[in-house]
Amino acid sequence: MRIDIVSVVPKIFYSPFSVSIIKKAINKGLVDIYIHDLKKYGIGKYKKIDDYPYGGGGGMVFRIEPVYKCFCNLLSKRKYDEIIFMTPDGDLFSQEYANNLSLINNIIILCGRYKGIDQRIRDYLISKEISIGNYILSGGETAAIVIVESIVRLLPGLIQNRKSLLNDSFQKSSNYISHPIYTRPAIYKGWKVPEILLSGHHKKIKEWIDKKSYNKKI
Ligand code: ADE
Repeated sequence: MRIDIVSVVPKIFYSPFSVSIIKKAINKGLVDIYIHDLKKYGIGKYKKIDDYPYGGGGGMVFRIEPVYKCFCNLLSKRKYDEIIFMTPDGDLFSQEYANNLSLINNIIILCGRYKGIDQRIRDYLISKEISIGNYILSGGETAAIVIVESIVRLLPGLIQNRKSLLNDSFQKSSNYISHPIYTRPAIYKGWKVPEILLSGHHKKIKEWIDKKSYNKKI
């Protein structure tokens, strides 16, 4: 899988993508992630990427030309399955959404900032718009990190016991929450692990797990 992220603050991605699961996926050659600074495609001497909105109103808006040029550069080299724009008014992201995106090969993610982006980018250049929740972030970058992590952890060859992914909360159904989990010691400061889990009785443990898993009210 290849993910190209387009942003005006590329530094945001350095740390989250250089540790833990994403670093492991990159090192294993399961994903290539490229961060593109939109300012490189800016207009004129000052590499301007934004402008005032037509019709007034405060804030600055991403111009279409830098985004178009950046996308053309990427699209001239390979085909992309999805060109995603991170935006609070997009489709609400979910486990099912992550599952589907983990099956495709090449993705571009555009991170918005400021007041927004010229609507023509959304109308003519973007294939999917994704929100990670009904709240406003300063930009799409942190939202992009969220979706990249949820996609990458699903890639075959990364997590050893892939079957365990199927037991994750939200995998069995959109509001499924998996059972509580415990590890050693069996008793700590008098706080005990449920006895059934120590019994070795597989059928009863399975019944306990089923009883303790539940559907979250949403
Ligand atoms: N950009 C700003 N807020 C966002 C959100 N909630 N989801 C996705 N992108 C965003």
